[in-house]
Amino acid sequence: MVKVHVSLSTKPYDVTIGPGVRHELGAILEATSVGYQSCVVVTSKELRAQSWFDVDHDDDVTVIEVPEGERAKTFGSLASLCEQFAALQLSRRDVIVAVGGGALTDVAGFAAAVYLRGISVIHIPTTLVGQVDAAIGGKTAINLPSGKNLVGAFHQPVAVLCDSEILESLPDRERQSGFGEVAKCWLLEDRRASALASASLDDLILLSVNLKARIVATDEFESGERALLNYGHTLAHALEVLALAHDPDLLRHGEAVGIGLGFAVRLAHALGRVDELVVANHDEVLAFFKLSLEVPKEFSTSDIIAAMGHDKKAHHDLTFVLPGVNGFEVVRGVNHELVVRVLEEYREAR
Ligand SMILES: NC(=O)c1ccc[n+]([C@@H]2O[C@H](COP(=O)([O-])OP(=O)(O)OC[C@H]3O[C@@H](n4cnc5c(N)ncnc54)[C@H](O)[C@@H]3O)[C@@H](O)[C@H]2O)c1
Ligand SMILES: [Zn+2]
Repeated sequence: MVKVHVSLSTKPYDVTIGPGVRHELGAILEATSVGYQSCVVVTSKELRAQSWFDVDHDDDVTVIEVPEGERAKTFGSLASLCEQFAALQLSRRDVIVAVGGGALTDVAGFAAAVYLRGISVIHIPTTLVGQVDAAIGGKTAINLPSGKNLVGAFHQPVAVLCDSEILESLPDRERQSGFGEVAKCWLLEDRRASALASASLDDLILLSVNLKARIVATDEFESGERALLNYGHTLAHALEVLALAHDPDLLRHGEAVGIGLGFAVRLAHALGRVDELVVANHDEVLAFFKLSLEVPKEFSTSDIIAAMGHDKKAHHDLTFVLPGVNGFEVVRGVNHELVVRVLEEYREAR
């Protein structure tokens, strides 16, 4: 078991990583100086049926269910959660425990952020995406029909438990999606592909959590350095927007990130920022995680470029996080023609 400290000035907390760490929940609840009165678990029916789900064996624990995946990230679920919190007469001395993937911790975290103007939340992320990304850093959100994550709040958890045993029941495609984010972290940490063979899943989770914790601690509200975590995401977000309109099942987020990472390093190379060895290392890392570099044939290059310009994090310009001699940087106003050329070459090479 390893603890990573997220050293925020106002509300620091620990992310505990390792097989079986979900069993630390009781100790964490007891150890808090405030002393929580009661604990309410938010999860889904399907996750509650998993063999590792054992928090409800304690009679004092109330379990609230929300729908699976993105279907939980609605105003309807938010209202239902807050109504149930109120019916249970939860006060600011109580704690919500969110047990689920990124979608679930996003909506449960948001409900915890707004109910009574903020009550404590502990995340037990059950997907790899949740363990290395969504559950850490305090971003919470629900979706609107006009876009994902458009309504939300920053609300830091009081603790996060990343239990690799829970990931054993994860479907392959969800694991694969998580590896897209893990590959991003490995590359942001400037690690060689050759070192991957000796890394365990817990090592990979630890590396990713360490990186995210370090960046979140320097930029809690995403006004600067936190943007570096969007490496590979300019193309990924564009592909996801197009996939949503076409076939929502076409791409998982991490799969899109994998494609975006392979593209971003080629763009950096075309801009003279990195040499071919860096491109080759990216390709090896992505291949290790079995991430495809294939941009879906359904989308034209011009539609992709248009979607990139509308990425809310791109400020209506072509902005990329790119490696270079000074490390990773946010590069704004990248030449459109160059982006088109590199993207076309990237697609033709597959
Ligand atoms: N807040 C953030 O900083 C942040 C960061 C990244 C992603 N996100 C959000 O996270 C969401 C994606 O999260 P995700 O990739 O974890 O997917 P998800 O939460 O949609 O879960 C995917 C599916 O896997 C199932 N599942 C979860 N854990 C399981 C387990 N252990 N065994 C079997 N099945 C399991 C879920 O029930 C669901 O059907 C998106 O909504 C995204 O916007 C948020
Ligand atoms: Zn991501």
